[in-house]
Amino acid sequence: MLNYRIADGESLEYLNICPLEEISSGERLFFEIHDQPIVLINIAGMLYAIGDVCTHDNGPLGDGEIEEKSIICPRHGARFDLETGRAVRLPAIQDIPAYPVRVVDRVVQIGVPKK
Ligand code: FES
Repeated sequence: MLNYRIADGESLEYLNICPLEEISSGERLFFEIHDQPIVLINIAGMLYAIGDVCTHDNGPLGDGEIEEKSIICPRHGARFDLETGRAVRLPAIQDIPAYPVRVVDRVVQIGVPKK
């Protein structure tokens, strides 16, 4: 299961990522947690965090074009749902991780599986 947005809260730990002011609408922030590349994306005030690796050929995904609530891989055009991580267009057939995002005291936090 890669959609951690629906995971049991007990299985996740929330980590501070950045002050909310550092990720305004239209911006993306790239970082790693437990060696996993992740991109945080702000679309008109909605925050999404997904794995930054395309499952088609392991290319970087986070700079891809956004259409509605999906991201398009810049390499070969696979498309992933930002809310669920689901691969919704070939050539990718495997989902990517999607992480829950919350804001606590104006700090953006991401929920990742506990180690
Ligand atoms: S690496 Fe993303 S579609 Fe090929």
